[in-house]
Amino acid sequence: TEAVRELLLARIRDVPDYPKPGVVFKDITPLLADPVAFTALTGLFADQCVRYGATKVVGLEARGFILAAPVAVRAGLGFVPVRKAGKLPGATLGQAYELEYGTAEVEIHAEDLSADDRVMVIDDVLATGGTAQASLELIRRAGAQVAGVSVLMELGFLAGRARLETALAGAPLESVITL
Ligand code: PRP
Ligand code: MG
Repeated sequence: TEAVRELLLARIRDVPDYPKPGVVFKDITPLLADPVAFTALTGLFADQCVRYGATKVVGLEARGFILAAPVAVRAGLGFVPVRKAGKLPGATLGQAYELEYGTAEVEIHAEDLSADDRVMVIDDVLATGGTAQASLELIRRAGAQVAGVSVLMELGFLAGRARLETALAGAPLESVITL
C-alpha cells in the first residue's frame, strides 16, 4: 500500500558524496532498525514469493542477505546466497559482470538449486542491474527457473530494468520504491 511505501521511504537515509563525491548513498540502516518498517518490507517480499510461486530465495551479498534471509523464513522457503567471488567453499558457478570501472564476479553453490526450483532474487537496490543480471545468469546456469526479482529501490535513471530484460525472460521485476 501507499502508506507502507511512505513509511519505508521515510526510513531510507540519503548520504551525499558517499562513497565518493557526487554519489548519493541510499542507507537502509534506519529501516532495518525500525521493527515496523523491517517487518512490513519482509512481509511484502514474502507475499511476492508466494504470489510468484517461488521455491527458493536468493539474496545478493551483502545487503541483499539482510533482507532475503528473513523473507525466506517468513515464506517457508530455503535461502541461497549469491556471494562475491572467493567466499564459497564448495563447487561454484561464477559469473563476471561489468562495473563502471573494471569488472566484478559473483558465485553460487551449484548444488543449492535444482531443475524444479523457482527462484526469487532479492536485493536492496537495483542500480545499473549488473549484479542482478549476473545472478540471474547463475540461477539459469544452475538449471533452475527464475520466479522474479524484487528490490526495495530501483534507481530508474540507471536503466537497470532494461539491462535485466533478456535475463528475466518475462519474469517480473518488482520494486517497492522507484527513484
Ligand atoms: C550495491 C547494492 C546492490 C548493487 C546494485 O551492492 O546493494 O547489490 O550495488 O548495483 P548494480 O545494479 O549497479 O549492480 P554493493 O556490492 O555495492 O554493496 P553491498 O555488498 O553492501 O551490498
Ligand atoms: Mg549489494
